[in-house]
Amino acid sequence: MGEFGRIDVLVNNAGISTIVPAEETTLADWERTLAVNLTGPFLMSREFGKEMLRQGSGSIVNVSSVAGLLGISDRAAYNASKHGLIGLTRTLAAEWGGRGVRVNAVCPGWVKTEMDEEDQGAGGYTDADIEGRVPMGRFARPEDIAQAVAFLADQDLSGFVNGHTLSVDGGWFGDGSWESLRNRKQQ
Ligand SMILES: NC(=O)c1ccc[n+]([C@@H]2O[C@H](COP(=O)([O-])OP(=O)(O)OC[C@H]3O[C@@H](n4cnc5c(N)ncnc54)[C@H](O)[C@@H]3O)[C@@H](O)[C@H]2O)c1
Repeated sequence: MGEFGRIDVLVNNAGISTIVPAEETTLADWERTLAVNLTGPFLMSREFGKEMLRQGSGSIVNVSSVAGLLGISDRAAYNASKHGLIGLTRTLAAEWGGRGVRVNAVCPGWVKTEMDEEDQGAGGYTDADIEGRVPMGRFARPEDIAQAVAFLADQDLSGFVNGHTLSVDGGWFGDGSWESLRNRKQQ
């Protein structure tokens, strides 16, 4: 505020992954995951939102996940946090949209970042598992996600988009095909 005098965009991107079978998830795992992935975005939105509401404009983009839309085993806390983030997105959009503040979410598929390196390092899955699950046959690239965030952030491009959840996952969420059928459709 000191430098720019206004706040146009907040992107809640920070997040942590927790991969543990549900029955072995400790209360500490659960609370830490919810704190970073859901309580953090709430607190950031509340504080930035106050200023956006004062100025009558602003765009908040929450980075959820395909795990915010689907159940994926061994991720009870992570999935609950990302599902919750979509609920928060819709509620803030309903509450603040009439005062000029738009709130949307993006749901990335798997992206090659440090999070993926650590998760794969722990032995949970391979590149081939992810590529085989995605109709477009590849991981998301960081720029795929950045472009979707930039679209939702930009009043000129997405000024009437509010409360939306934008999947950026190469078709993962939309694809209900069984595995062999999906594999037959990939080149
Ligand atoms: N990588 C994927 O496959 C994938 C898929 C879907 C969604 N996402 C989501 O995308 C977002 C970015 O993930 P990424 O893959 O770049 O992960 P990453 O681990 O590479 O980066 C996460 C970032 O969050 C920051 N962070 C973590 N805890 C924090 C805290 N308590 N306070 C402040 N910052 C904190 C880290 O410093 C790091 O810069 C996350 O919300 C993640 O859940 C990632």
